[in-house]
Amino acid sequence: MTMTASARKFDSFEAAFRMAFEEEISGETFFAALAEAEQDPRQAALWAKLARIENRTVAALRPLADTLGLAPQDESAVRQAGRAEAAEWQALPFVGAMEIIVRDYPGSYLAEFQAMQATAPDQARASVQLLIDHEVAIIEMARAELAGTGESEVPLDDYLAKVATLIDSIPDRRV
Ligand SMILES: [Fe+2]
Repeated sequence: MTMTASARKFDSFEAAFRMAFEEEISGETFFAALAEAEQDPRQAALWAKLARIENRTVAALRPLADTLGLAPQDESAVRQAGRAEAAEWQALPFVGAMEIIVRDYPGSYLAEFQAMQATAPDQARASVQLLIDHEVAIIEMARAELAGTGESEVPLDDYLAKVATLIDSIPDRRV
């Protein structure tokens, strides 16, 4: 989870997946730190749900990351980095953070995951689809927040239900 505003180019599927997996790990602590700092209980609960989404995505992707040897060497350092990156967003009003997600995430993270899908080996397709789906859910949540529909948790809950089913289907899962 960095403040990238445009899609990065990677030399290989492995390089892209390594970065994506690492950023899901740092994403969990990033959003958890935002949840802890948020005074508004409803908004804090939304940040906490995003942390949960990152956590469950990591769990679903971990078997592939292990198979490909692409998990970070030092996950506690990655988790600390995510927490440190949250400081910048903690200074933003909640609406400002939602605006950044809506403005930047479609052309950065989501575009990167869609580009990964084109080069993904067969065994990685479901995992990359999950990355796409989780990013779409986060963007839809932020759009609903800004529109004031009152249904911003729906895409998050739908994704959490989907990822739970997928994790249950992993034979030797480590969660
Ligand atoms: Fe994420």
